[in-house]
Amino acid sequence: MKFFIDTANIAQIKEAASYGLLDGVTTNPSLVAKEGMDFRKLLEEILKIVDGPVSAEVVATDYNGIMKEAIDLAKIHKNIVVKIPLIKDGIRAVKDLFEEDIKTNVTLCFSAPQALLAAKAGATYISPFVGRIDDISHNGMELIKQIVQIYKNYNYKTQVLVASIRHPLHLVDAAMIGADVATMPFDVIEKLFKHPLTDIGLEKFLSDWKKLNQK
Ligand code: E4P
Repeated sequence: MKFFIDTANIAQIKEAASYGLLDGVTTNPSLVAKEGMDFRKLLEEILKIVDGPVSAEVVATDYNGIMKEAIDLAKIHKNIVVKIPLIKDGIRAVKDLFEEDIKTNVTLCFSAPQALLAAKAGATYISPFVGRIDDISHNGMELIKQIVQIYKNYNYKTQVLVASIRHPLHLVDAAMIGADVATMPFDVIEKLFKHPLTDIGLEKFLSDWKKLNQK
């Protein structure tokens, strides 16, 4: 399973990359806006830290605008994946970008029919937002199950990128289902390491070791 970090914060990306397990980065306009930095410069910084797919989202919503932004973004670096919203003009652009060998991540996916459209258009990744579905009292993981099964039935190559992850159990469920990628905020990545029994056990091992050396 691939681990991406869902942030545009350079310090967080550096820290997560230092653990040696980071495969890529996803950003979105809200995350980029938080950093208050020029988008292109920010992407260039990220691309220096992580040698893997970096999702950069278009903000145009019409076909021509999406195509222009997508082509400009893709020119920045071979690792750029253009993130495109799941709307009619977006899906049309995904199909044409596929023909031009430009990688895409179709975002704001909340249903299985939407995921099917993205796969048929040739998206590299589909991003279903599990946390936002849970927020409205529906089951985000049920959607992941449906998409993974549908893609398997028809051997679609589009990778299922589980997004809007809020806690480690989302990651565990996504891994049990067999999703390809999980994109996680920094605080969730940090939580993956933690277990109270690990801390208690380590403290005991080290204090016993100290006793031996004191004898
Ligand atoms: C997906 O790529 C989005 O950037 C992200 O996962 C959205 O998460 P949120 O619902 O926590 O904002």
